[in-house]
Amino acid sequence: MAAQLVVALLAFISLSVSSEPDCKELVKPLVLDSHSPIYGKWVLHVGSWDKHDLKTDLQSVHSSWVELSPTTDSGVISLYWADRLNEDKCLQDAANVSISGITSHTTFIINGHTSYHDGKYYETCSDCLLSEDTTLLPDGKSKGRYLFLFTRTGALEPPELETFKKQAECLGFLPEYHFVSTDLCPDYRESVSPGVRKTEEDQAENEPAEN
Ligand SMILES: *[C@@H]1O[C@H](CO)[C@@H](O)[C@H](O)[C@H]1NC(C)=O
Repeated sequence: MAAQLVVALLAFISLSVSSEPDCKELVKPLVLDSHSPIYGKWVLHVGSWDKHDLKTDLQSVHSSWVELSPTTDSGVISLYWADRLNEDKCLQDAANVSISGITSHTTFIINGHTSYHDGKYYETCSDCLLSEDTTLLPDGKSKGRYLFLFTRTGALEPPELETFKKQAECLGFLPEYHFVSTDLCPDYRESVSPGVRKTEEDQAENEPAEN
């Protein structure tokens, strides 16, 4: 009787273990170098967070795109980002990302406020970019993490979304998601003459410039 119970319990345990996501397979950090599959323009599809406090900030983002390019310095990636906020305001600017191994560090200056971010990128679907962003407080402590899934077009197939959710679970994110639109801010680098502030209100009705 007891032996049967043990066998049944073991079967149950192995069943529940095998239904857990295989995190070792799902979460593989990318080594960042000039061959990393992270370069080019990316459109945000979904974001997740690990602390409730971070939810409100992300929910104000209506759409977002980034462009990553290598520079002549192997330790520096050039980043351009453009966020459309809910009140139909476009914010965009350039930043330098310093990289070492699997981590990146970026200082953003947004509307006069400096914010420090550590980043990691993980293996993901082809034509996708999975980026973990840790916001650092001025004392260097973590304020919390976001997990962002970008694709080339902003579109994503349902199975790829399921994989993202499992990866988020493995990395300790909350099972909450903010999906954004693909109504992107136009690229001011191409449409605005020099000297005009990049962070001014978006007055343009233009479609985003094609690369
Ligand atoms: C990035 O670094 C280069 C070289 O140091 C510098 O010229 C450029 O102004 C920096 N860009 C930003 C946005 O900080």
